[in-house]
Amino acid sequence: MSPLPAVYLEQFEESPGYLEFASTGPVSHRVREAMASVLDVVAAPPGNASQAIAARHQAATAAMARLVGAAPDRVTTIPSTSAGIFQVAFGLLRAGGNVVVPAHEFPANIYPWLRAEAVGGPAVRLVACPDFRVNAERLAPAVDGETRAVAVSLVDFVTGFRVDLEGLRRAFPEPLLVVDAIQGLGAVAAGLEPADVLLAGGQKWLRAGWGSGVMAAGERALDRLEATLTGWCGVEHYLDFETPPPHEVRENAGRFQEGSPPYLGALQMGAAVEVIEMAGVAGIEGAVLERAAAMEEAVRRVGAEVLAPWRRPGERAGIVCFRLPGEDPAATAGRLAAAGLVVSRRSGWVRVSPHASTPLETAARLEEACGQLARD
Ligand SMILES: Cc1ncc(COP(=O)(O)O)c(C=O)c1O
Repeated sequence: MSPLPAVYLEQFEESPGYLEFASTGPVSHRVREAMASVLDVVAAPPGNASQAIAARHQAATAAMARLVGAAPDRVTTIPSTSAGIFQVAFGLLRAGGNVVVPAHEFPANIYPWLRAEAVGGPAVRLVACPDFRVNAERLAPAVDGETRAVAVSLVDFVTGFRVDLEGLRRAFPEPLLVVDAIQGLGAVAAGLEPADVLLAGGQKWLRAGWGSGVMAAGERALDRLEATLTGWCGVEHYLDFETPPPHEVRENAGRFQEGSPPYLGALQMGAAVEVIEMAGVAGIEGAVLERAAAMEEAVRRVGAEVLAPWRRPGERAGIVCFRLPGEDPAATAGRLAAAGLVVSRRSGWVRVSPHASTPLETAARLEEACGQLARD
């Protein structure tokens, strides 16, 4: 693989043993600068603060739109993945029927549906996937003519299994396909097509930091989702205080705002996308997959059991979970930390998640540290 451009790699300064991108992605210099410059504005506004950053906010939305391959009016900024999923779940409040969600989804893709169901929204059908393979075949028994949405993670937060979105779209053409892309976007190629709604917080693979996120909604979603949680910034002429509410709901994705948009997060995302564009998503994806595969091979060589539901390269992303024979994963994680490797524990496994800036040599360090554990 050809190395990524230096201009991209120089943006980052996390330690070489940092393998926790599935939890939090250290931000780039450019994102830090964007944050600092917004703080300058809010500390000493040159005039109206939101007007002072309006052009940058617009540029950030355009950058997010480029990233997900959607028109800027289909894209809005959200403060977290959950905020976007709540918008969708409550937008379907009066739709009746059901929504289908894999039972092992990260809770951010469970609670909004349960909360909506509790106040009369679609019934939630949680589908067990014992082999962690989320695909049309597995979900089909739960999907019927009353299914309003199928909601999945692009990449599973434990197994790293990457869903074939085109396959789901082909199998279930009618319900909205809602995709929580936080464990993939920024590290693997993904866009609004073929989904109806694609959303992701910016704090992981996008390396944009907390409080940032992107939500993209296609035409069918804009048609079908009611403006249940649309607040004062989600309407037309929201600064026209002479005309009493309610104003018309915005036709574009800007309607998915409950209040003031997360301006700071939006600018973080704009900067993060500019950094991604220095290397290109394809280059980043290649580097992430190469490092994840190297980590997997490294731990296999020392006899680890790997949680590997994927069968083809297209079914995986940047996450690898493993455990060493005869050792509690908590103990493994603790001892890897002592060796300077930052990993996490999920569902009884040790999880490693490298990014494109992770040195390839870190795989050898992981092997060495795990090998020592196996020898001890
Ligand atoms: C699949 C998935 N969705 C969502 C989140 C986080 O949701 P939020 O951005 O709402 O905190 C995580 C991890 O924190 C995750 O792994």
